Amino acid sequence: MKKLISAALILTMVLALAACGSSKGGSDTGTATKGVLVMATNAEFPPYEYHEGDKIVGIDAEIAAAIAEKMGCELKIEDIAFDSIIPEVSSGKADIGLAGMTVTEDRKQSVDFSDSYASSSQVVIVTETSGISSLSDLDANSVIGVQTGTTGDIYCSDEFANIERYNKGMEAVQALSQGKIDAVVIDSEPAKVFVAETSGLKILDESYTDEQYAAAIRKGNTALLENVNKALSELKSDGTLDKIVAKYITAN
Ligand code: ARG
Repeated sequence: MKKLISAALILTMVLALAACGSSKGGSDTGTATKGVLVMATNAEFPPYEYHEGDKIVGIDAEIAAAIAEKMGCELKIEDIAFDSIIPEVSSGKADIGLAGMTVTEDRKQSVDFSDSYASSSQVVIVTETSGISSLSDLDANSVIGVQTGTTGDIYCSDEFANIERYNKGMEAVQALSQGKIDAVVIDSEPAKVFVAETSGLKILDESYTDEQYAAAIRKGNTALLENVNKALSELKSDGTLDKIVAKYITAN
């Protein structure tokens, strides 16, 4: 009997390790029984991921924790440059990229995406006294600030001539408030947070694009993809996802 139990235990451990995607994880965290789900993110993106003291919090951090819990894995969050997330995931250094990341056809060449867990849009931030009052006021002379490698960067680089790239969205917003650039194109929820934290800025009514956020997973890792989608669908139907979002985004 004892033998049977320990065999079952070992099997569970092996399955947990395999299910978490990261076989290297267990030992370096000192947890022999739990596999580790390594999440790559860029924690400069409130309310989805940001630093609070020495912790990384936000909607994505909590969704990932809930997914990891359902999978019986321990979550480990790695905070890296936004444009390093896809390379980390596709090379297998991270299991999952969760970073308010927009699903695009281009990115689908490098990674697979889970089902979407949020909708978003790119919006334009300008100063309250700006001559730019609608999207059509943006032209070849407008200096537009973006976070490097984001969809704001990709789409604006296609359409406009003067793009300033920053490591963090907030740095672009600061440059705008110092009069160094004319506009910032960034996701709507972080835009609201940054504008609330900085005086003299506003968000144009008209949005630039509509997008869907999803988790990035290494191409061909269908086991993990299925586990993440299963967890997401449970979190959606049992109201957990809504609860997490409501904690960070107050309905306006
Ligand atoms: N949604 C945009 C994109 O996918 C921006 C995401 C930026 N996320 C972050 N954690 N900095 O490109």
